[in-house]
Amino acid sequence: MENKFVGSIDQGTSSSRFLIFDHTGKVVTSHQIEYSNVYPQPGWVQNDPNEILSSVEDSVEQCVESFVKLGHSVSDIVAVGITNQRETTVAWDSETGECLTDAIIWNDTRTRDIVQRLTQKDADSEIPTICGLPLATYFSAVKMVWMLENVDAVKKANEKGTLRFGTVDSWIIYKLTGKHVSDVTNASRTMLMDLKTLQWSDKSCEFFGINKSCLAEIRSSSEVYGQIARGALKGVSIAGDLGDQQAATVGQLCFSPGEAKNTYGTGCFMLFNTGETPIFSKNGLLTTVAYQLGPNEKPTYALEGSIAVAGSAIQWLRDKVGLISNAPHVNTLAESVSDNGGVYFVTAFSGLFAPYWRDDARGVITGLTQYATGGHIARATLESVCYQTKDILDAMNADSGTELKKLRVDGGLTNSDLTMQIQADILGIEVIRPEMRETTAFGAAIAAGLAVGFWKDKSEIAGQSVTKLFISTISDEKRQQMVSGWKKAVEKSFGSV
Ligand code: G3P
Repeated sequence: MENKFVGSIDQGTSSSRFLIFDHTGKVVTSHQIEYSNVYPQPGWVQNDPNEILSSVEDSVEQCVESFVKLGHSVSDIVAVGITNQRETTVAWDSETGECLTDAIIWNDTRTRDIVQRLTQKDADSEIPTICGLPLATYFSAVKMVWMLENVDAVKKANEKGTLRFGTVDSWIIYKLTGKHVSDVTNASRTMLMDLKTLQWSDKSCEFFGINKSCLAEIRSSSEVYGQIARGALKGVSIAGDLGDQQAATVGQLCFSPGEAKNTYGTGCFMLFNTGETPIFSKNGLLTTVAYQLGPNEKPTYALEGSIAVAGSAIQWLRDKVGLISNAPHVNTLAESVSDNGGVYFVTAFSGLFAPYWRDDARGVITGLTQYATGGHIARATLESVCYQTKDILDAMNADSGTELKKLRVDGGLTNSDLTMQIQADILGIEVIRPEMRETTAFGAAIAAGLAVGFWKDKSEIAGQSVTKLFISTISDEKRQQMVSGWKKAVEKSFGSV
């Protein structure tokens, strides 16, 4: 396998990337295309599914070009995996193969009224016990309901029987191979899959009014789904499919119960491997499928703490407020002050997700005095995701009954030493940053590589060496004081809509 490679499509909330890995897990070459989502009204986040698709195909073309320039051949790519922003929902017509409306992105909150209505309807809270998720604007089923109620083309296709719904993995695999499939991890984010049977639940589909024939076939995360029919990778099999946070769990090699990772991307998501049994949270966490690495393999489950806003707060400071000129500038600005000066920023742009699940929360900055500078606001922005991670870690510890001693981290924000030091200070446990931080893409490559025998089994996959360990430098008393300031700020974000 020395001269063979696995490709990985990483379709995220703000960019699409294609990366090619060698057998040792090293990135040989990659290409990234950033794109912007559309915010037509407060709380709405959408995008043209064709733009998402073309950003994927363009990144594949560019990456393959540089791969070939390195002296390799496309036939050396044995398979491709896909990993994607989860929950984002696409509707298309099976007759034309064309999308029927803009994709509703995962952090869109237009479905608030639908969620309230459905919460009343599910008075016994039965649906969360089937799918492991609370009724919230975040998940795909409520986005499908909104499309069915508000988009004529979707309604008509539904009546005709040609409507197809999918998460982003499904959409891309459909356009590249013609197959309408998804994997267990993506399906576990819709509210429509029964966590135990790993099939669409009749009860959930009926509850939301979604016809099962609109939905993808649910497959494991590691098997051949079909061959790419066009472009530079024509003929190559797609053989891995995982939601991006689950892919990062695999890419961080969190294969044992009790291991956890936290990925700081557009949002931030902590997944804690709970083994072969789903654990239902009593503390506001989600129960989700972590991975199923083969159709005959047992699934592994995880508890998840989801934070809606992480890197997107920095984008907001740059694009909407103009406080910084580029993303790394937030660090320089935050480093100009020694602490937050009493300023807290609750970045609840899409409400607050885990463990609060408050769709009436909105962003607030508290503690401002004339002493406060841009440095304090920059620091409070970085701190916000770290405090939310602390809220989630406390819930994880309570649910699992054990205290997590170390946290593996990855994602764009982990490039900031300052943020990771703040994180270790706020958590009071070790924060471990791996050398190879392309863990999300690597996870999808692992799934694809295992499916085609590129790697024999999980034990053959190279581990990542630790480059940096962050350890708390503050006292427990100081930590408690900081966290209590945060809790007060969170209270102030509630009831804003
Ligand atoms: O659940 C949403 C998540 O999959 C988005 O991930 O990396 O785009 O923040 P990311």
